[in-house]
Amino acid sequence: VGRTFTLNSGASIPTVGLGIFLSRPGSECFNSVLSGLRLGYRHIDTARYYRNEADVGKAVKQSGVPREDIFLTSKLWLSDFGYNNARKAIDQSLKALSTSRVDLMLMHAPGDPDVREETWRALEDAHKEGKLTSIGVSNFGIGHLEKLLKTARVKPAVNQIELTPFLQRRKLVDYCKGQGITLEAYSPLGKGSSEILDDGTVTKVAGKHGVSNAQVLIRWSLQHGFIPLPKSSKPERQKSNLDVFGFELDSADMQQLDSLDRNLVTAWDPTTDPV
Ligand code: A2P
Repeated sequence: VGRTFTLNSGASIPTVGLGIFLSRPGSECFNSVLSGLRLGYRHIDTARYYRNEADVGKAVKQSGVPREDIFLTSKLWLSDFGYNNARKAIDQSLKALSTSRVDLMLMHAPGDPDVREETWRALEDAHKEGKLTSIGVSNFGIGHLEKLLKTARVKPAVNQIELTPFLQRRKLVDYCKGQGITLEAYSPLGKGSSEILDDGTVTKVAGKHGVSNAQVLIRWSLQHGFIPLPKSSKPERQKSNLDVFGFELDSADMQQLDSLDRNLVTAWDPTTDPV
């Protein structure tokens, strides 16, 4: 597994992103992004819903890391849906992030079927104008994707969903892979829940490699071709969560982790929303 993957848009994306959901707007988010960038993260995953895009923008400036070396993702919230709303929201995101283009903009969830298609068209138009390098979706199920692909002129580059060994969504993952849609894994650490992070099998595999349980979960995600987005506001954890390129899970490890699948959703699950 390399440090970047290539999306169907042709853009290159760093394979481990820093999640900042629940990183409180203001100094917590600013500090978390700043330390992440200093520790080597080059991919930050925010959303309009998190209300911390401006903190991301400030931290990027403060870090001194050239903007073009950083991959920024944001997401349109449900209240941004509809063509005109979405166009306005995209411009607001660009402003809050103090940038002239966002690397990846997603629809945060399938939302209202009546306005989904026109929202996607707004993303496509902003993409064509160069404001959004890549566009994609989040929390979409197979039905939502099938329907979108009927009218889409630009295929979603990613589908960002919750994915862990305990929630593998194999049909949805196979469908996305078949369509060339890259999977991004949110809550790859199960939001820090001990049920996931302290699981016996995960602990055993971690012991074998002399790494942390979080590193095993992140590596599992990478070896499935996913882009994990672990969140931490603690620099030591940020550092070790990114330090996952010096070991490899073998096929026995992967098989043991794969056997943990049991539909354990820790977050909201809109993949089953009305198509
Ligand atoms: P904190 O931000 O205090 O470090 P997820 O990415 O699945 O949403 O999980 C995020 C949660 O896991 C946060 O509560 C975070 O806490 C915690 N966390 C992040 N990295 C680690 C780690 N390496 N070990 C233990 N807990 C972690």
